[in-house]
Amino acid sequence: MRVVSGIQPTGNLHLGNYLGAIRNWVRMQDEMEDANRAQAAAGGSAQGNQCLFFLADLHAISMPHVPAELRAATLEMVAALVACGIDPDRSVLFNQAQVPAHSELQWLLSGTARMGWLSRMTQFKDKSGKNREGASIALFTYPVLQAADVLLYQATHVPVGEDQKQHLELARDIAQKFNNDFASDEDPVFTLPEPYIPPEAARIMSLRDGTAKMSKSDPSDMSRINLSDDADTMMKKVKKAKTDPEPLPSEAAGLEGRPEAKNLVAIYAAFTGQDIEGVLGEFGGAGFGTFKPALGELLVETLAPMAARFNELKADRESLDAILARGAARAREIAGPTLSRAYQALGLIRG
Ligand code: TRP
Repeated sequence: MRVVSGIQPTGNLHLGNYLGAIRNWVRMQDEMEDANRAQAAAGGSAQGNQCLFFLADLHAISMPHVPAELRAATLEMVAALVACGIDPDRSVLFNQAQVPAHSELQWLLSGTARMGWLSRMTQFKDKSGKNREGASIALFTYPVLQAADVLLYQATHVPVGEDQKQHLELARDIAQKFNNDFASDEDPVFTLPEPYIPPEAARIMSLRDGTAKMSKSDPSDMSRINLSDDADTMMKKVKKAKTDPEPLPSEAAGLEGRPEAKNLVAIYAAFTGQDIEGVLGEFGGAGFGTFKPALGELLVETLAPMAARFNELKADRESLDAILARGAARAREIAGPTLSRAYQALGLIRG
């Protein structure tokens, strides 16, 4: 298995980002490790399964952006990934901009991708909105870069959220047409990647309003647990979270119409690996005076050590640069042969 996935750099990371993408990546990394160990035990090579994770900084310029903010967000995201458990020794961790093969392959694939295919991408329609004339070309060709991102490494599995599934299907269509047009069936240039949609991560909502998503842009800092918060702040935010006066129900149905209660229970469930029923089995009948401190302690126990590491690493530019440089060097090496084959297949002469 070769797992490849990207994430757009955003700043002000919070609990929602952790329970969304980041934790899934850490799990994939650990699964690769298990698979390698099992293969080694069976007498095979222990290097076969690998994860490549990257910051999609090239994708970020498809929308209006502030350069200094992009740079800061990219570094912050690397610090977060490492703090939360992505191990740059075990996974290849890098940013696209340091691996020119991404941009190069994008152009090579642009001869294969069809206008009609890209016109059907719902993310482009959503992001360009009513101002399609004013949208950047990068926003339109964004999925071709995404195809290059994964095809470059012969990815077999690509973990993405539901919203990215269409882009992955496009990557498969591009790979298939390229192989058809420019390679033989026995010796295809690209592997067709499988999307891997992780089991629905709980949607984490604001601590001040159970109907709004937890967001970095919410003006109230009390609405979210930041990855940079210290233990006391986390505990305080949980204790001040908006709730209602009722005790917790014993069954999930009792949470309907109680979005704030539901959100806190969902967070508890996500951190303990239980389902909602399991948490209510433990806390049904209890008031928030009991539940909130328990949730706060859980957060402090799991998230606060990561937050401390995150803050430390975020301030250590030298280490972050070194991590990215090393990851990019490994990525360039893995990408090289496929990129060469793609040039060659197209009849392009390259020294
Ligand atoms: N477009 C993805 C997102 O916004 C990020 C991304 C870029 C990606 N390239 C990728 C994800 C390649 C998976 C594989 O979430």
